[in-house]
Amino acid sequence: MSDLPRALAEAIRRLADERGRKGLAESASQMSAHYRQRGTSRQVIGAAGDALAYALSRMPATYAAVSAVLEELQRRAPNFAPGSVLDVGCGPGTASWAAAEAYPGAALTLVDHNREFLTLAEALAADGAAGPVDLRLGDLAGLDLGKPSDVVVCAYALTELADTQLTQAVERLWRHCAGVLVIVEPGRPRDYQRLMQVRRHLIEAGGRVLAPCPHERECPLVEPDWCHFSVRLSRSRDHIRMKGASLGYEDEKYSYLVMARPGIGAAAPGRILRRPEENKFSVTLSVCGEAGLETRVVASRDKPAFKAARKLEWGNPVEN
Ligand SMILES: C[S@@+](CC[C@H](N)C(=O)[O-])C[C@H]1O[C@@H](n2cnc3c(N)ncnc32)[C@H](O)[C@@H]1O
Repeated sequence: MSDLPRALAEAIRRLADERGRKGLAESASQMSAHYRQRGTSRQVIGAAGDALAYALSRMPATYAAVSAVLEELQRRAPNFAPGSVLDVGCGPGTASWAAAEAYPGAALTLVDHNREFLTLAEALAADGAAGPVDLRLGDLAGLDLGKPSDVVVCAYALTELADTQLTQAVERLWRHCAGVLVIVEPGRPRDYQRLMQVRRHLIEAGGRVLAPCPHERECPLVEPDWCHFSVRLSRSRDHIRMKGASLGYEDEKYSYLVMARPGIGAAAPGRILRRPEENKFSVTLSVCGEAGLETRVVASRDKPAFKAARKLEWGNPVEN
């Protein structure tokens, strides 16, 4: 589980205490209906309360997904020590908080085209005692900040662009990236397909795939299958209330892509593509490897291998 840092969770709670939760719950419920219909944030986040409702109802899940991807980046590139992180489509600063956990001390620049989100990101950064952050009003498709950053993160934002804007936005992100570009998207077939288009484009531009793929060939998955992962997070009392939920946890599905400039890190030899199936005789793993898709059955009679396989989870890297 990867839950919000305590300072951030407390800062959100304080803001919700000041505002009162009734209106926030209404905003949150309209927002989730809107996001389910693939509406954009701009259409639904028009006031400070809306941005705060996002922080209460969606930020815990997007934070967990970005944190999981950054952990994978750290595994793939353990010697990579970025000094600067650019968070584009930052919303309330979700990916910046995750990056500050993964890479403490890195300078953070946050960009969004929505003032309400930027205002909230600033308040949370100040209230939650994060380090200094540079906040900019700007558009993904016209991003032009001058100096590139060591890490560029774009989380749950490309999904809001039309197909016709995607390539230009990704070119801008890559141009601003001196080291590693991290893209996290909702775990839906449409977003995965667009990520594969982005992946192709960035490989042609000289990028190297660090994760999730163990190779740079075309993705071997065939429709209706798609590459996505899942992360479990716990729900706070506020989160449960905003979602009108009953369970104390949720599973966030996401797709992602980590692309690096040459010379940074290395891809894993294989990756587990769905939840392993286990019975007392064997563990069955669906693996995407250097040679494509394969099913690996680890028999219980091979005790050390079986023990190791039982610990593997969906999304984990595997050795050959
Ligand atoms: C679903 S929110 C994600 C926020 C945050 N990255 C997260 O993971 O929680 C999408 C964000 O992308 C921003 N966004 C969408 N289109 C944008 C664009 N063309 N330029 C800049 N920001 C954009 C929205 O304003 C919103 O803050």
